[in-house]
Amino acid sequence: MIHGTGVDIVDIGRFRKACSRWGEAIKRKLFTGDELSYCESKKDPELHLAARFAAKEALYKAMGDDTCTGAFRFIDVEVLKAPGGRPFIKAKTLKAGFTVHLSISHDGGYSIAQVILEKK
Ligand SMILES: CC(C)(COP(=O)(O)OP(=O)(O)OC[C@H]1O[C@@H](n2cnc3c(N)ncnc32)[C@H](O)[C@@H]1OP(=O)(O)O)[C@@H](O)C(=O)NCCC(=O)NCCS
Repeated sequence: MIHGTGVDIVDIGRFRKACSRWGEAIKRKLFTGDELSYCESKKDPELHLAARFAAKEALYKAMGDDTCTGAFRFIDVEVLKAPGGRPFIKAKTLKAGFTVHLSISHDGGYSIAQVILEKK
């Protein structure tokens, strides 16, 4: 059954400004090494980082109460890629018994992510 859904949209320009204001430290606080490697291999890393930020926010919205084993931290939520490019989420502190479905898109200066959280 569906436990919850979440969607989040990020203005890439605002995200870019925040990254340049706060520097590398903020990226290391929010994103894992594998996420940074993937995004930094792209022509416009902030576009892909913004989508990952949106994905983490969207998961938080989908989770609601009583689904986390501890505090919800962005660094514990990782957006990875399956062969073929489909993104998926690995969330360290999500309780067992849930499956996360993720979709990402970028256009017109915005990155958007949608999460559907399924309870087995
Ligand atoms: C993969 C594809 C759907 C991406 O769509 P797009 O409009 O180019 O780009 P969007 O900005 O909407 O989406 C990009 C995101 O799609 C996701 N994505 C990439 N490959 C994917 C796949 N195979 N399945 C699901 N999502 C995928 C990624 O998360 C990517 O963002 P990221 O690089 O930051 O992780 C597109 O490039 C594609 O291959 N389309 C095939 C269309 C087709 O074959 N049409 C035939 C009609 S007959």
